[in-house]
Amino acid sequence: MGQAWDPQAYARHARFVPELGAPVLALLDPKPGERILDLGCGDGVLTRRLLDMGCDVLGVDASPSMVAAAQSRGVPAVLMDGHTLAFDQEFDAVFSNAALHWMNRPDQVIAGVWRALKPGGRFVGEFGGHGNVETVVAALRAELAERGLSFEDLNPWYFPTAEEYRARLEGAGFKVRVAELIPRPTPLETDLAGWLITFGQRFLDAIAPAERDAFCRAVAERCQPVLQQPDGRWVVDYVRLRFAAEKPCQPQ
Ligand code: BEZ
Repeated sequence: MGQAWDPQAYARHARFVPELGAPVLALLDPKPGERILDLGCGDGVLTRRLLDMGCDVLGVDASPSMVAAAQSRGVPAVLMDGHTLAFDQEFDAVFSNAALHWMNRPDQVIAGVWRALKPGGRFVGEFGGHGNVETVVAALRAELAERGLSFEDLNPWYFPTAEEYRARLEGAGFKVRVAELIPRPTPLETDLAGWLITFGQRFLDAIAPAERDAFCRAVAERCQPVLQQPDGRWVVDYVRLRFAAEKPCQPQ
């Protein structure tokens, strides 16, 4: 089951997600008039930026509440699972920020992106890469194990190495221009409990409601020596996988 998104909670705890999207937008290098698919558009903040740059944009997302939030920003957006993209050679580029780590059948996603692109089209994105949020992962693993639960059984996140993702893209026929891991320690506007409630719902759902606060506190306590700064701010150990690939005009 996918995670249920609350756009208001997302705006409060995760505003940094679109705010830190500038480098991947620059890598996309969008041109006015280009037809661009935003895969996993979320609440449409970055999609709106593409629209404002004069692109002909469509956002897709698997969360009805996020699609509604994107539409309320004036972004054309539809409900669609990234594993089953239903487009045929209509886009100049497919763009994705902070969404692909929620899609754990990457070859299916990549095949759908390939079909969606015109020959010569670009697939450019950024998502969680190998080692992403590893302090939080270790704390979750330990606290779940103390309660007889397995992190692996619940894990909704896909954080591949650059080599693995490059190989998957090339396997589908893409020519890969960039595939690199970028450590990006990320300050939170709120705290680790807010982050867990926003991004770790799959784990919290496995804990009895009355125990969830204690679980969040225990995870935060384990992370605190590494992730909490002397001034009290939390800085999470994000690692991004940034990539740019092209669907060649002629099959290689
Ligand atoms: C990320 O954007 O890297 C991320 C999102 C959800 C959970 C963990 C990490």
